[in-house]
Amino acid sequence: MGDPGSDLERYLEPRREERLASLKELLRIPSISALPEHVGDCRRSAEWVAADLRASGIEHVEVCETGGHPVVYGDWLHAEGAPTLVIYCHYDVQPVDPLDLWTDSPFEPTIRDGRILARGAADDKGQLHAHLRAIQALMATRGRLPVNVRYVFEGEEEIGSAHLDSWLDANRNRLAGDLAVISDTPFFQGNLPAITVGLRGLMYCQVDVIGPALDLHSGGFGGAVQNPANALAWILAGLKDPGGRVLVPGFYDDVVALEPGDRAGLAALPFDEAAFLAEAGAPALAGEAEFTVLERLGARPTLDVNGLWGGFQGEGSKTIIPAHAHAKVSCRLVANQDPERLFELVRARILELAPPGVKVDVRYLNGGRPSLTRIDHPGVRAAARALEVVFGRPPLYPREGGSIPVTASFESILGIPVVLMGFSNPDDNAHAPNESLVLANYEGGIRAVARMMDELASGELGGPGPSPRA
Ligand code: BES
Ligand code: MN
Ligand code: MN
Repeated sequence: MGDPGSDLERYLEPRREERLASLKELLRIPSISALPEHVGDCRRSAEWVAADLRASGIEHVEVCETGGHPVVYGDWLHAEGAPTLVIYCHYDVQPVDPLDLWTDSPFEPTIRDGRILARGAADDKGQLHAHLRAIQALMATRGRLPVNVRYVFEGEEEIGSAHLDSWLDANRNRLAGDLAVISDTPFFQGNLPAITVGLRGLMYCQVDVIGPALDLHSGGFGGAVQNPANALAWILAGLKDPGGRVLVPGFYDDVVALEPGDRAGLAALPFDEAAFLAEAGAPALAGEAEFTVLERLGARPTLDVNGLWGGFQGEGSKTIIPAHAHAKVSCRLVANQDPERLFELVRARILELAPPGVKVDVRYLNGGRPSLTRIDHPGVRAAARALEVVFGRPPLYPREGGSIPVTASFESILGIPVVLMGFSNPDDNAHAPNESLVLANYEGGIRAVARMMDELASGELGGPGPSPRA
């Protein structure tokens, strides 16, 4: 993996078990940001990460209040003349339901078939821990780091990073840097090393359709009052056609069209559509016919119903007009769509579609902006060389369909370019039962982070970085 003769390797090699024990400790803390009963666990997770940074010799380590789950900050700024990296991962995780589909307990990590299984193993505690062990090894073997670093470990990524932008803004002075490194993206299908160059944004809202004060007898009232569940079905059906085109006026106005070069780049990726379909476990793929699957995922916006409820859900039949019906609706956005503007467009369309006789409420729940990151930046080249040295082949440059709201914020609030260097894998079951991380990716991640820092030490990014937005 790494150069076996190096000091770094001599430090890392005998500590594999110790490292995994530590990663398991972090994974055992159920830091589910979405659930109020886990606020204490999120804080415990933040404290755990802070203590580990301190033990490695990182300075000014602080568990920072944000109004939500805390951000962990720490820095080491003694590499004079070398660039400054702002390193981001998130310590919060997704809820675990449906629990009965897990083969092991989600917060009791197990190692099997070269993977570590637990909620958060891939997304994103395993990747965060790889950073912790990279700097621990560098500090222990050299007493210093090749570059300056500032760590930003977030606890609300999985719920839309609602408090992060204002925290970034308020802490702009201590976040000056030359390059942000985010480790929260997967390798490409087939576990091929990758640097993600595009992420989608998100607009998430809830639709509440309110009818009669109580469920009504559908014989006594059916036909003479509006049915909220029917009304909701009518509304949702009007938002998207079966071919995947979103029927919201203005929805596509700000979409940056794919250039021929972008299309060629995506087409050249070694994408196996049959394997993707098998991974999805769906009867067939769907979506806009004039775009390839990778284009649909990386460069086209979507509108999806995430949840839908109302009326009678039990066994057998019950004849009612339900009092209310609800849907969670989200849109994945692409450059240059703006979540708040999209919300207004979707909301207007929903209200226009609402039939008479019901009250319809549309509420914004959360969102994040899309991002396209540069590929010609020296920071990206350093990351690419590090991945190639450690994983034995140069990275691919895919666009991903997921969202990491902070990516756009680093660029707009702090004025620093971002490189998305992550180590998970598309088949890791992120957000799903039996989440796992390939241990070779975790181990390689540690070496790649250290190597990237060495690559950047030569000062290729040049002196002081651009100053953040005034
Ligand atoms: N790590 C993912 C983002 C991701 C997933 C990037 C797949 C690339 C490929 C992140 O933790 C995540 O799940 N983000 C949420 C963000 C949302 C809550 C704003 C997402 O994409 O649903
Ligand atoms: Mn993540
Ligand atoms: Mn996630």
